[in-house]
Amino acid sequence: MLPLIQPCFSGMILMLLVSNLFLWEKVSSAPINASEADLSDLKDLFDNATVLSGKMAKLGIIMRKEFFINSFSSDMFNKFILDLHKSMEKTIKAFNSCHTASINIPETNEDVRKTSFEDFLKMVFHMQLAWKDPLKHLVTELSALPGCPYSILSKAKTIEAKNKELLEYILRIISMVNPAIKENEDYPIWSDLDSLQAADKETQFFALYMFSFCLRMDLEILDFLVKFLKCLLLYGDVCYVSEF
Ligand SMILES: *[C@@H]1O[C@H](CO)[C@@H](O)[C@H](O)[C@H]1NC(C)=O
Ligand SMILES: *[C@@H]1O[C@H](CO)[C@@H](O)[C@H](O)[C@H]1NC(C)=O
Repeated sequence: MLPLIQPCFSGMILMLLVSNLFLWEKVSSAPINASEADLSDLKDLFDNATVLSGKMAKLGIIMRKEFFINSFSSDMFNKFILDLHKSMEKTIKAFNSCHTASINIPETNEDVRKTSFEDFLKMVFHMQLAWKDPLKHLVTELSALPGCPYSILSKAKTIEAKNKELLEYILRIISMVNPAIKENEDYPIWSDLDSLQAADKETQFFALYMFSFCLRMDLEILDFLVKFLKCLLLYGDVCYVSEF
């Protein structure tokens, strides 16, 4: 599949992860020091957080698809994707232009092993903070765009709402795991508002194209990370399986 449509690594890792989980029954070593009661509370928080992240990842995929099939945007979106795929260089540039590219998500098995529970938690937190304002702007701009279908706008609104809700859970988890992680930490700042508000339709729709592409990818990564954190909490080191 074309990389700009189908970033699927996280789904694959997760599938293997889940299938491997059933091979193990005992917790090896908990990734954090917490009392039994705290662990139980954390598990409850993660149960809800993973439901939210899963719903958000699905919505990201569906919203991206809507842009491609709805006559509101389909002509532009299909033109952009054809243009991008004419040049490998352009494709790679677009791929790396997401504002969250600076969050270093471990990609190899070895990198994953070197990443601690807390570092994964920080990644989730930074990813969420990085999307908070852009999602607010997306909803505002789509609402103002003549002809924007409800099917797209409603998904943007739901993703924004769920992102806020998930952030609440992540903050509660952070307060239990390491309160030193604070909201004023560095996180990637989105700076594409001018393009999203551009009077030139092509510029504006290209901004929407990249926005929905990056969001879709990040929501899948976010879902993977939240599920991976839950795995680490419940099963410890066995989550770092080597078989995938
Ligand atoms: C938990 O605490 C013990 C004893 O204080 C320490 O040896 C261990 O490294 C800690 N584990 C983690 C994951 O912080
Ligand atoms: C998880 O969600 C349910 C349903 O919304 C809620 O009743 C419960 O209190 C939540 N759990 C935690 C730990 O917040």
